[in-house]
Formats: sequence, C-alpha cells, structure tokens
Amino acid sequence: MDITFLLNGETRSVAVTDPTQSVLDWLRAEGLSGTKEGCNEGDCGACSVLLTDGDGTKPLNACLMMMPHLQGKALRTVEGIAGPDGTLHPVQQAMIDHHGSQCGFCTPGFVVTMAGAHLNGASDFDDQLAGNLCRCTGYAPIIRAAKVAQSAPVPDWMRDHPVEFAEISLTDGQPAFLPRSSDELAAWYLDHPNATLIAGATDVGLWVTKQLRDLGKVAFLGGCSDLQQIRETPDSFIIGAGVTIAALRKAMTTPHPSFAELLRRFASEQVRQAATIGGNIANGSPIGDSAPALIAMGAKLTLRRGDALRTIALEDFFIEYGKQDRAPGEFVHSLTIPKSAPGLACYKLSKRFDQDISAVCGCLNLTQEGGKTASARIAFGGMAGTPKRAHALEAALIGQPLSEAAITAALPALEEDFQPMSDMRASSAYRMQAAKAMVLRYGREARGQPSILEVQP
Ligand SMILES: Cc1cc2nc3c(=O)[nH]c(=O)nc-3n(C[C@H](O)[C@H](O)[C@H](O)COP(=O)(O)OP(=O)(O)OC[C@H]3O[C@@H](n4cnc5c(N)ncnc54)[C@H](O)[C@@H]3O)c2cc1C
Ligand code: FES
Ligand code: FES
Repeated sequence: MDITFLLNGETRSVAVTDPTQSVLDWLRAEGLSGTKEGCNEGDCGACSVLLTDGDGTKPLNACLMMMPHLQGKALRTVEGIAGPDGTLHPVQQAMIDHHGSQCGFCTPGFVVTMAGAHLNGASDFDDQLAGNLCRCTGYAPIIRAAKVAQSAPVPDWMRDHPVEFAEISLTDGQPAFLPRSSDELAAWYLDHPNATLIAGATDVGLWVTKQLRDLGKVAFLGGCSDLQQIRETPDSFIIGAGVTIAALRKAMTTPHPSFAELLRRFASEQVRQAATIGGNIANGSPIGDSAPALIAMGAKLTLRRGDALRTIALEDFFIEYGKQDRAPGEFVHSLTIPKSAPGLACYKLSKRFDQDISAVCGCLNLTQEGGKTASARIAFGGMAGTPKRAHALEAALIGQPLSEAAITAALPALEEDFQPMSDMRASSAYRMQAAKAMVLRYGREARGQPSILEVQP
C-alpha cells in the first residue's frame, strides 16, 4: 500500500507494509531523529509533530500515529520548524533567549507544540503544553518563551496546505482498509467482522507499542468524513463517532460548559486532537471521561451494522466490564445529546490536573420544580466495572429539596448503587467518599456556595 503525504514541505510516497508501524519509528528510521521517543505511549510529548489536514494544523504524538494516518496530509517535524535557510522560528529563538532548555531531551517536542500554538494563535499555554513533560528546566522559562514569541508573525514556511493525493485503492489484498465513508466502512466490516477498527489510535496504538500485538486486518476510520460531523436538530446535537475530543470540546463550550471543561481535563492537546468520541465509547472503559457526562445528559447511541442502524440509551451499551452491546461487524456511528442541560455539572477527580485518567468521574444532571428535585440523572465513572447510573441515589433525591440536610440524608443510597474497587488510583472507601463529596458539591454550587478550591492552572 503506497501512501503519499508532505513531509516538511516535500512530497513523499512511502510503500507501507506494516500499517501499524508508528510514525515515530518511521521518522527515526529515516534519520529524522529530532523527534524523540520518551514514553512511547502518549504521555510525554517528546515525539510531538504537527499534522495539517482540511481542519487545520494540530499537534499530535507521533508514537500513537500509524503510517496510514498520514495519507494525504502534511507532516511537519522539528527538523522543519526552522526556515529552509536555517532562520530560527520565533519560538526557537525565544527558548534560547529565555533559557527554556537544559538536558534538551524534551526540547524538540516543546518547540513543535509551541510552534503549533503559535501558528494557531493559541495563548492558553498551560493547556497547550500540558502534554509535554520536562523533567529538568521547569515550566516557567518555557511558558515565558511561548508568551514572548506570541506576537511574532508566523513564518511563511510554517503554512502547510492540505494535499489531495490519489485515493488509495480498496482491494482486499491491501494490508489496511481506508474507507472514505461510513457506507464503505459498513460494507467492509460486515465482511471482516474480526478486523480492528482504528480511529485516533490513542488506545489501539498502545496495544502495538506496549503489548506488541499483531492486529491482523485493520481499517483506519480517519477518511470517513461523514462520521466527523456534528449535526443539529431543533433540540439535539448528533455527534459523529469520528469527532475528536478537541473538536467536541470546542463545540460544547457554549451549550454544555461543564462538559467542555471536563474535556479540557481529558489527556493532553496532542491526545485530544487524535482521540475520537467513538473510540472513547467503543472501548467500554469504566474510567473513560465522556460516558458519565453523556449518560447524565440522556445520550442515545446509534450503532450501524451493514445498512442497519439501531439506537439505544448509552447506559445500556455498557453491559459489564469488557462487554458491550455491540454485534460482530457493528460499529459506533453517532451519539445524540440534548442541546440544553442547564442542570449538568461534571467533576473529574484524578491525581494530576492534566493528562491523567480519572479515579472517579461524577456527572449530575438535576432539574428543580417548586424547590424540589423533579428529575435526576446521575452517572459515575470509576465506581463500577462500567460507567453506570446511580439509580438509588437518583430516587432518594427526587422530591427532596437540594439542601445540605436532604442531600446528606440521600447519600447512603450511593452505597446501594456502587461497591467500588480498590486499585492504584484509589481505594474503595476513598472512591465512595469522593463520589459522595461530588454530590454535596453539586448541591452547594446549585445553592450558590462554591464549596471547593479546585486547582486551576
Ligand atoms: C496519554 C493518554 C491519556 C489519556 N487520557 C484520557 C483521559 O483523560 N480520559 C479518557 O477518557 N481517556 C483517556 N485516554 C484514552 C483514549 O484517549 C480515549 O479512550 C480515546 O477516546 C480513544 O479514542 P481513539 O479514537 O483514539 O480510539 P482508538 O484507539 O482508535 O480505538 C479505541 C477502541 O475503540 C474501537 N473503535 C474506535 N472507533 C470505533 C467506532 N467508530 N466503532 C466501533 N469501534 C471503534 C477500536 O477498535 C478500539 O477497540 C488517554 C490515552 C492516552 C494515550
Ligand atoms: S514518546 Fe512520549 S508521547 Fe510519544
Ligand atoms: S530540558 Fe531536560 S527534560 Fe526538559
């Protein structure tokens, strides 16, 4: 299978024999060793590269990207950040001027991410750089450098344009299938129900880099542009499975600010730009961040098998740990959520603010009538083998005022809903206590008493 893309401004065609080869491994084998391997699992940002497609330029982790992800796109590595004549990029000069590097191992990754933020006019540097780990310089000089470079114009050489190369043929002998629509995917997946679907590869990439798994037949969903849309009806948003967490976060900022804030805490910018909502649901993880919020909003999940679509309540998709309601050859098509959920609040508890999986994620969506709770949808992640609704707690809250005393009286019901496990993230007792505290916090915030000093970068 030949793929064609721009590499630092020049057209490259590459014969891909192993479609799960990471872009990082390929770059380093090509001698472009400025892109570093730190963790090889999306945590450190040493392998950051910029990828440009029709949606713009994004920072991504090359260790989690597979070669077919590059088809028709423009890739820029740290070797392409300075100009062709060696002129330094403003962020490179600022890193020198502000002493932003000591051992230097993290520096190429930082420079690439900073150049991406500079190109996109982003100034939320704490968020933009949360996916880049520096062990020795410390972040103050690096953030200082990013701020200083901010006002400099974007160098001409940084403006990559999306490229339209010949489409890859779809014959069955190819090592990977790159469908261009959900129709093509549906037909192929029916014939290959044991194949592995690969969207952003932020989970699947680790099966290869850490578990050294041979994935057999694979399909890359990135070309299914119809799955990457967010459509609107008068009262709902229909979110395609291929919508990235970054795009979803942006779209949710106004209608569902608490959900958008939760998504800010989802991994790092590099991971959010690759990870899809479909992958976050399909993996069935009990600690995925989107499911509790979506369940609390009453999301419906649409699955597709061949030409047949079926829609279920999202909470019914998660049967038990590792088991979802998905038939062979069936894939996640879209999610439907209400446009309005003013009672929604989402709380993520993890050991670090950024780039960390939840120990407990609690999402509450209550409505009030006549001073009493009229309806309640409450869902937790990290409290059971699946993301799960707190039905007993909901029943105990309905018909009660949102007072401290009434909530406190309802809280024992949470112990009927959940018997959480102990693991390296949290003990069972801590999880239960933290979940109860989230419910109390919801009540205090609803009564206009912000109850907690949350760490804000
Ligand atoms: C460093 C790091 C930090 C992370 N932090 C978080 C975090 O804070 N919160 C969180 O929730 N997750 C986190 N994750 C996990 C991961 O990013 C998410 O689960 C992500 O949403 C997966 O989406 P993807 O597109 O990358 O899926 P992929 O890795 O491509 O696929 C994941 C699974 O879903 C399947 N799949 C993908 N799309 C479909 C589809 N349309 N239909 C059916 N099956 C499909 C794949 O076959 C696979 O089984 C993190 C991951 C990394 C590496
Ligand atoms: S090597 Fe650490 S994120 Fe890729
Ligand atoms: S300069 Fe050493 S890790 Fe950042």
